[in-house]
Amino acid sequence: MDEVNDILCVGIDLGTSRSSISASNGERHVIDSYAGWPVDAVARKLVKKPVLVGREALDNRSMLDLRRPLEQGLIKEGSEKDEQAVQEILRHLMSLTGIKQKGKTRPKVRAVVGVPAGALRVSRQRLRGIMDGIADSLMLVSEPFAVAYGLDALLHALIIDIGAGTADLCVMQGRYPTEDDQHTLPYAGDWIEEQLAKLVRERHPDARFSVHMVREWKEQWSFVGEPTERVRVTMPIGGKWTELDITDEMRTACESILPPICETMADLITRVPPEYQDRVRNNVILAGGSSPISGLSAALDRALAELGGGRTSLVPDPVFAGSDGGLQLARDASTGDWEKLAA
Ligand SMILES: Nc1ncnc2c1ncn2[C@@H]1O[C@H](COP(=O)(O)OP(=O)(O)OP(=O)(O)O)[C@@H](O)[C@H]1O
Ligand SMILES: [Mg+2]
Repeated sequence: MDEVNDILCVGIDLGTSRSSISASNGERHVIDSYAGWPVDAVARKLVKKPVLVGREALDNRSMLDLRRPLEQGLIKEGSEKDEQAVQEILRHLMSLTGIKQKGKTRPKVRAVVGVPAGALRVSRQRLRGIMDGIADSLMLVSEPFAVAYGLDALLHALIIDIGAGTADLCVMQGRYPTEDDQHTLPYAGDWIEEQLAKLVRERHPDARFSVHMVREWKEQWSFVGEPTERVRVTMPIGGKWTELDITDEMRTACESILPPICETMADLITRVPPEYQDRVRNNVILAGGSSPISGLSAALDRALAELGGGRTSLVPDPVFAGSDGGLQLARDASTGDWEKLAA
């Protein structure tokens, strides 16, 4: 379908911390989900742009009204600025595909946008409004479903997508997942960071550190289960940079997401007809940016053992699994599957 020159199909994974796009012209990009506007005339003179998006926005944050507009997969309530920020992020992703965004030669854009299952219920209307002007036809799907589609894991599979704002679980039974087949939990990367910051602050009340430092520690050292090495980081305490061992805090923070995820996994598996449960347990697929947490898939395997045994595997490319799946879906969709926008 996208062989026709004037149609561009895209899959977009709109994430709390990162958003990615895969386009039928071969372009694939990922950006940090931030947008920011210069705060005053000095900032405007320095940044030389009306709005900054992605890493550029993050790196210039002291000069910007910086927004990370999604929280637990939803656009923050009641804020027009956050809605604009989502639009800037989506526009920027589209511009990275290199297609003309205005004028007669602009191709028709068919976009599949993956969002957390919970967001579909709450934000469908707002997302539609935001995509108006960016795409001509739209399909909003749940994030784990897009991942499943891209992997061709459509039957007897359980996708667990652990991102920043949410962990999304979806059981695939050979049909479009219903609300009962999927569940969104607010326990993912952001939650781990909050727990880690709280635990470190409790033990070292005078230590100074930012959310960005906590994220870096987590991305480098996150683990569950027995530690294989000590986690040592440095931060200023009373003005002096000091090395601290935060192994126990890291473990507790990372393990805090396990009980709700394991419980939801068990719950979704229990709803599958008994004759198929064994196949689903042996086809649990871990996706999302938080999936590389060391020891995570072994911990899920242990939880599956209690249900009768099973196996977890990691998606090969967690950054683009959602957008690639969205693109595949966009290519396969027939005319009736699309919502027309006024673009
Ligand atoms: N090596 C790593 N170990 C642990 N966590 C990591 C690692 N690399 C990235 N992360 C975390 O993965 C999360 C981002 O994952 P992802 O891009 O899937 O999220 P998202 O799609 O933006 O969020 P959501 O799906 O919740 O809206 C962040 O919390 C980030 O800190
Ligand atoms: Mg995501």
